[in-house]
Amino acid sequence: MCGIVGYVGEKQATPILMDGLKSLEYRGYDSAGVAVYDNGLNLVKTKGRLVELEKRLEEFPVTGIVGIGHTRWATHGEPSEINSHPHMNEESSMAVVHNGIIENYMEIRDDLLAKGHVFVSETDTEVAVHLIEHYYNQNQDLLDAVILAIKELKGSYALGVIHEDYPNQLIAARKDSPLVLGLGEGENFIASDIPAILKYTRNVYLLDDEEVAVLTKDSITIYDLYRDVVTKDIFKVTWDVAAAEKDGYEHFMMKEIMEQPKVIKDMLASRIYDDVDEVRLDNVDLSKEKLSQYSKIYIVACGTAYYSGLVGKSLIERLARIPVITEVASEFRYSDPIIDKNTLMIVISQSGETADTLAALRLAQAAGTHVIGVVNAVGSTIAREADDVLYTLAGPEIAVASTKAYSAQVCAMYLIATKIAMAYDKISIEEFRIIRNELFMLPSKIKSILDKKDQLKALAEKYADSKNVFYIGRGLDFAVSMEGALKIKEIAYLHAEPYAAGELKHGPIALIEKSTLLVGLLAQEEFYDKTISNIKEVKARGAKVLAIAMEGKNSVEKVADDVFYIPRTHWMIAPLLANIPQQLFAYYIACALGRDVDKPRNLAKSVTVE
Ligand code: M6R
Repeated sequence: MCGIVGYVGEKQATPILMDGLKSLEYRGYDSAGVAVYDNGLNLVKTKGRLVELEKRLEEFPVTGIVGIGHTRWATHGEPSEINSHPHMNEESSMAVVHNGIIENYMEIRDDLLAKGHVFVSETDTEVAVHLIEHYYNQNQDLLDAVILAIKELKGSYALGVIHEDYPNQLIAARKDSPLVLGLGEGENFIASDIPAILKYTRNVYLLDDEEVAVLTKDSITIYDLYRDVVTKDIFKVTWDVAAAEKDGYEHFMMKEIMEQPKVIKDMLASRIYDDVDEVRLDNVDLSKEKLSQYSKIYIVACGTAYYSGLVGKSLIERLARIPVITEVASEFRYSDPIIDKNTLMIVISQSGETADTLAALRLAQAAGTHVIGVVNAVGSTIAREADDVLYTLAGPEIAVASTKAYSAQVCAMYLIATKIAMAYDKISIEEFRIIRNELFMLPSKIKSILDKKDQLKALAEKYADSKNVFYIGRGLDFAVSMEGALKIKEIAYLHAEPYAAGELKHGPIALIEKSTLLVGLLAQEEFYDKTISNIKEVKARGAKVLAIAMEGKNSVEKVADDVFYIPRTHWMIAPLLANIPQQLFAYYIACALGRDVDKPRNLAKSVTVE
């Protein structure tokens, strides 16, 4: 995790670095720091959020036109000033920021200790500093030293390096951690993510693995590990910086929830048309001919993206009658999976940088498996490395808790499942038209739920003191309940468990007591009566019940304490709609409990380490 920013130009670097770090704070926020060159390197860093660094900079201002900054999410060593970045060598002549994990840091550290280097922090990053210094001492060539050092590093890194012998230069390198280079007029930038530099430039280079870039104010030169120059196309950012700001909402999460009607409209825009009887997925080959090469389908992802994959599995199996295995990426990669060129793999990721998902993709490709990436962040590593990409077009998602990206991912699953089912002639044109009509109505149905958000606010305030929350459902409702439970855990810090409704009696019902809240999902009409029976069982044991049901299914009012109704829709469209009230409910509970909604404790937006 962690966010990196760097500047070389003619302006004062510190305000630019701080500005960039603010938009990268979602990547980690337990400590932060900057190093700026001005007749020597000046370092200011502190434990805590960026506001603490701002205060420190008011006390100890640093000036200079070349600098690097960092906001940290601790992996090695507790959050503390000494462990925060940038890190320096003994003479304070070089400063380094790092994102990622250096897996062989212990052995490198032992070796460097034996050579006389002195370490002050517990971080893995500090070995990169001393290793670069070690090589620099041999021939005084900073680029060479960085290349030689990173050749020895195992694991992942995005690095920014400045050195007082090169006062007009910034060096950057990456492997398995994101890093972009921004091209300005008389100034250039590095950053972990595009919004950090979007205010200054729309022209970026997307650095690839094992590439090293040398930035001066007038040039960016990219090298491979043989020091050969690499030429690259400029990537032009088309979305607006306003898209990455709050637009008057108190939290990014609420802004992102409210954006969902538009997100779904955009998702569908160039993929289904009211006068065309097919799903068009440019750049994703799901033709009958292509599909006939595959004997099985895997869907692999992490967290919320994984839960959208569970919806995808159910849809592909039910619509196309093809078996699908869905796995969390961190398990998949170590499970010795049975995959080959006859397997199709779909990886889902908002950031396109999640370390486990990326590793799963690479593992699959090494086995000859064709990988489709369902990705939100344009130009991200997964988007670039997947064989085909279906972009979810949700725009930048800043809140740590994923909302609009999940809806867009589920929408992508609708399109993929429908496309596969049509390729196999498993659904008729008439059935397709029903699905298409329902998809077209999704944005207005989402909006009608959002219009009732005050109702969910009142429910959240009523139930905010719950100690334990159970989410139950059957079939697709169960998949949705998993996402509901995750959301309330991560932003409200309430203990929540999703359970398949039929499993309650096999153990967990013993946990039900008066203070338990049960959220019952009843959006799948075929399971309505069965789930009602399960709700009665917990109600009889004293739990409070909030039901999420389809309009018209009013009998639930007899068993639930409260009911939130979603508009009627086709069974396959219901998951997306049923999840919206869960998002709002979790959001308002988190607000009622005074949680830091956009930056929940211990979490980072982009999990770029294993
Ligand atoms: O960027 P990705 O979609 O690959 O991220 C996967 C998970 O880390 C992510 O969905 C996480 O679970 C969210 N915080 C959930 O809100």
